[in-house]
Amino acid sequence: MSQAIESPPRIIAPEIPDDSITTVAAPAPVPVRIPQPGDDTLFNRCAWLYVLFRDKLFRDDTDRMINALWPNGARPAAGMRMIEFGCGPGFYSCGFAARFPQMSVLGIDRAPRQLDCAKRKARRLGLTNCRFENDDVLDLAHADESFDLLIAARLFTVLQNSKRAVAEMYRVLRPGGRCLVAEPRYAAWASLPLLAMWLVARMTRIDNGCCEPTRAIVLPPNEFKNLFASQPWRNVKVWQDGRYQYALCEKI
Ligand SMILES: C[S@@+](CC[C@H](N)C(=O)[O-])C[C@H]1O[C@@H](n2cnc3c(N)ncnc32)[C@H](O)[C@@H]1O
Repeated sequence: MSQAIESPPRIIAPEIPDDSITTVAAPAPVPVRIPQPGDDTLFNRCAWLYVLFRDKLFRDDTDRMINALWPNGARPAAGMRMIEFGCGPGFYSCGFAARFPQMSVLGIDRAPRQLDCAKRKARRLGLTNCRFENDDVLDLAHADESFDLLIAARLFTVLQNSKRAVAEMYRVLRPGGRCLVAEPRYAAWASLPLLAMWLVARMTRIDNGCCEPTRAIVLPPNEFKNLFASQPWRNVKVWQDGRYQYALCEKI
């Protein structure tokens, strides 16, 4: 369970001045469907198509994430336990595991075929410090304070309850643990894989019972920032870089 909020976290947002944040108009809400028991997901049925977008079209943020987490050439300590929420085909889990053999990486996702792709990628790269599990980021099967580091990329674009996911992020991190979240800023661009997967699923009549929205959920900067204020982090830093926005949080 998430902890009670005792005091608001210190929010640092150097690249988003507060006056610019308050003037941003919220986009029209994305129609969402609450996932039902027995639902499947496009990420499962059209796994190959998402892998294509992930590998060929989206920006590789590995270096940016590493530099944000360990500035000035610092590197993770031996034995560090990292988890990725909504790892999809394992792009970042494998990337971090390959870069830092001293770290153990666990990627979790609810789409078994994404996990198959991730496992194949880890095998291809000969990674022995990287594994993948089927789990729900809204109700994770891991004890409190199990991880030192958590990353999530593009997860909120398809998540109906991002506040609940942030509560789980807080819960599974140890005190002093950190999470880094990378999310797109523009719905049109971020929606491309969803539109393509819906199209293929409809054309091949495998769209029945899929729970994803047709348009990516993209949080405006003030909502993105406020989302992290829902947990009592010691520090929250949010910033933007090109088409992406980031949050780096440290647990008390
Ligand atoms: C847009 S993809 C991002 C994948 C990967 N992080 C990347 O950067 O390419 C979102 C992923 O989150 C997964 N996902 C969505 N809701 C989830 C949940 N409740 N629990 C676990 N995984 C979830 C989806 O199956 C999908 O693989």
